[in-house]
Amino acid sequence: MTSVIGKKTPRVDGPLKVSGKAMYTSDHHFPGMVYAVPVCSTIANGEILGIDTGAAEKMPGIRAIFHRENIGRFSRATVNHEFGAGMSRIDETRAPLEDDVVRYYGQYVALAVADTFAQAMAAADAVKVTYREHKPNVDERLAPETNQKVESERGDPEKAFAESEIQVDQSYDLPPETHNPIELHASVALWDGSAFTLYETSQGVVNHRNVLAQMLGVPKENVRVITQFLGSGFGGKLWPWTQSALAAAAARQLGRPVKLVVSRRMMFQTVGHRPRIQQRIRLSATRDGKLTSLRQDWVNHTSILDDYKENCGEATAHMYSVPNLRITSALARRNVGTPTPMRGPGAVPGLWATESAMDELALKLGMDPVQLRLINEPKIDEGLNLPFSSRHLKECLTTGAEKFGWTKRNPKVGSMKRGGLTLGWGMAGCSWQAARFPCAATVELRDDGTARVSCATQDIGTGSYTIVAQLAAEGLGLPLDKVEAVLGDTRLPPGPLSGGSGAAAAVVPAVLEAAGKAVDALLALAAHAPGSKLAGRTASDLEYTNGRVHPRGEPAASGVAFEDFLRLGSVRAVSGVGSSEGRGAFGTTKPAFSSHSFGAHFVEVTWQPEIARLHVSRVVTVIDAGRILNPLAGRNQIEGAVVMGIGMSLFEETSYDPRNGAPINSNLADYIVAANADVPSLEVHFVEFPDTNLNPLGARGIGEIGLAGMAAAIASAVHHATGVRVRELPIKIEDLLIEHPGHIS
Ligand code: MOS
Repeated sequence: MTSVIGKKTPRVDGPLKVSGKAMYTSDHHFPGMVYAVPVCSTIANGEILGIDTGAAEKMPGIRAIFHRENIGRFSRATVNHEFGAGMSRIDETRAPLEDDVVRYYGQYVALAVADTFAQAMAAADAVKVTYREHKPNVDERLAPETNQKVESERGDPEKAFAESEIQVDQSYDLPPETHNPIELHASVALWDGSAFTLYETSQGVVNHRNVLAQMLGVPKENVRVITQFLGSGFGGKLWPWTQSALAAAAARQLGRPVKLVVSRRMMFQTVGHRPRIQQRIRLSATRDGKLTSLRQDWVNHTSILDDYKENCGEATAHMYSVPNLRITSALARRNVGTPTPMRGPGAVPGLWATESAMDELALKLGMDPVQLRLINEPKIDEGLNLPFSSRHLKECLTTGAEKFGWTKRNPKVGSMKRGGLTLGWGMAGCSWQAARFPCAATVELRDDGTARVSCATQDIGTGSYTIVAQLAAEGLGLPLDKVEAVLGDTRLPPGPLSGGSGAAAAVVPAVLEAAGKAVDALLALAAHAPGSKLAGRTASDLEYTNGRVHPRGEPAASGVAFEDFLRLGSVRAVSGVGSSEGRGAFGTTKPAFSSHSFGAHFVEVTWQPEIARLHVSRVVTVIDAGRILNPLAGRNQIEGAVVMGIGMSLFEETSYDPRNGAPINSNLADYIVAANADVPSLEVHFVEFPDTNLNPLGARGIGEIGLAGMAAAIASAVHHATGVRVRELPIKIEDLLIEHPGHIS
């Protein structure tokens, strides 16, 4: 058997997806099912004075109009951030319809349930809600707050800054961004009189079950959560949102299955977003480019109810060697829905600012930006004072520079041309935490010659089914097509969130251990396999190799196939359970290493000032994420993240109407994401240094790292082409036409 680990492996669930057989949440239909449509508040700040359901209740097909008085009781979930089977985390902590106070536009105030979706929509529209309205606060300027908190600190950054000849002091702004996976959030809820079955769009079925059981007031054994396929999440589906509790409560009240699909407009209101973030970066260096100080002070908006902190300093304290550093955070409360993690939360916005500032520093020094990064490479994580488990940023920088042809770059702004276009070349480094969640998994060997591996993690489109199957195939020495992977159901052994790029690293040790234990259970059958030529032997006399049981030390061919061995013993299947503890940021013990993935992006833009056309024309990305389990899925993850980076840099921005607090571009015509025409062919390389401190194969997660640093690389390329330094995303054509002093450097 040759190993399937590290081989380009097409998705094992690909045929189900392309044939339409894969069941996404809203594909589930049940007899007697009814449809729920929330009524959304049309103010962002105020109180509900009355809800008139009279007209709506008389409409055809209506089953109920639920509101605070008649939905039944919801409890708040107690928040337990510890990763694992007991985790219960939710970002909007208020239970739906809990009180009559409206704190953001679109907050659910009632729920119409009818026999058809169209009837429910019409009824929701006919519910008349009266409000006392107050002026909402959605101010874009996040004024300096009094709640500043020091996140990391070393040395004396004020003194070092004041004494340095070379200084950068700039602010970098990021607008709110909205997750826009193709699949809308949805809940299909069933109640059988004592227990719930919830089909959900979830990046974490175990956490979802734990939260919903508390909100609905039933033991967690009485809630089953299923997410077989997810049309992506990007973090927006990590934790439950209010529609899930509403659908479940309606199912219980009506004794019928209830389907609730959140609309695209509601996606901008009620299911989280990346908050607005403003960061001030102060950097100083010696004349030869050694960093002497780094300060990062950020403020992000959060909701009225909840303290969501975007951890923008995630990568700052370990990225470069700098003796004097301080990172502070602050929150600014606004009348918006509660923000939530969005792909690379913290590090992605943080690196937009710090890597942009590094480029500005390189310009002041007259130094190549790659060189500036290379000479500030740290020996250890100076923030945690820990050795790195594995750090190969240098290799990413040098490999990327070589593949891109960086030495041909003329640093003079606007000096590079090709075919009548002005070229801009920019680059940035990136980093994202590498950690692993606690995980359990079961592997079963069956008498039909196949194996089954199961785990209550989920495949959110990233390729988890495939790598879980690969790991079981590896552990059992079986071909991949003999392995069935089953995920996305809380009835399975508790598995990790599909988030934080922590699932891949988590399933490696658990699945390998489960496979080993399944083999142990198989060998223990020896004494019970009377018909076999191996009968009477003890387990320790036997060995398992590539699907065959044979006498220890003898060739595999001398033994019997495992399925024959099972049948001779009249056993249908044997199984083993593996489990592994969390490690790094997702573990419970103090880490021995600083674990991160690293990378570098090299970007070319073309600029045509005559027609004001800016285009990203080439991207080379090099990633250090340890061992790559499946290069096909791996490349796909990085490409997707780079595409998202183009969107973040050039298009994405959620705009709130200051008059009523509504996110006004709440649709895919007005909220622009990168489309095919915006994306050149992308080059992705992995420098493979297995990180065996994280798991036996040395694999790290790769879901988020590819987005980190992209915005800084693009903004730097835009500066190189145009001479305009944009410090407020997204970069707009207007920024490049209006040459006001603040923008030129
Ligand atoms: Mo990621 S933002 O943890 O899905």
